[in-house]
Amino acid sequence: MRLEPADAEDLAQRLLAESIPRRWAHVIAVAQKARCIARELGQDGDLLEATAWAHDVGYAPDLAITGFHPLDGARFLRELGAPPRIVALVAFHSSAWAEAQKFGVSEQLAEFDDERTLTRDLLWYCDMTTGPDGADLEFEDRMAEVRKRYGPDHYVTRALDAGMDERRAAVRRSREWLASVGLADQV
Ligand SMILES: [Fe+2]
Repeated sequence: MRLEPADAEDLAQRLLAESIPRRWAHVIAVAQKARCIARELGQDGDLLEATAWAHDVGYAPDLAITGFHPLDGARFLRELGAPPRIVALVAFHSSAWAEAQKFGVSEQLAEFDDERTLTRDLLWYCDMTTGPDGADLEFEDRMAEVRKRYGPDHYVTRALDAGMDERRAAVRRSREWLASVGLADQV
């Protein structure tokens, strides 16, 4: 089945808006950035926006099975029949692979493939420059915010360091592309 941006928005709203409104505010802001970028992205534009709406559904209390939100979200979307690229982009978003190793679910995450494309980088960029309540943040500030929120011993913080080079590289490639299409100061 296709998952249009409006359908992904409805789905995410149903799962997140009431149960975890702060996360929902984050998702709205991430999707708004994705929509702005989508206009310049060509044929992957709708896919990027739909994935941005869906990327954090694994945080929904109803879906938390392993407790690792990229995996829980991706499995839920696969079950729903969402397009495999959206499923895999959700599974690997924002350096989830490095986190999965610290969390002990890398075997399960290997059910999916990280496509390593510009679209994937841009999804990471939108997520990693948006704070937990939807505020716009510079990438480095966002990383500092995560570190502070989870504390030094949490697996998320340790995974943050493990995935930092990959994250920085994705942000750098995204910024270069955004500059090349005149969006450097827009998102
Ligand atoms: Fe996110």
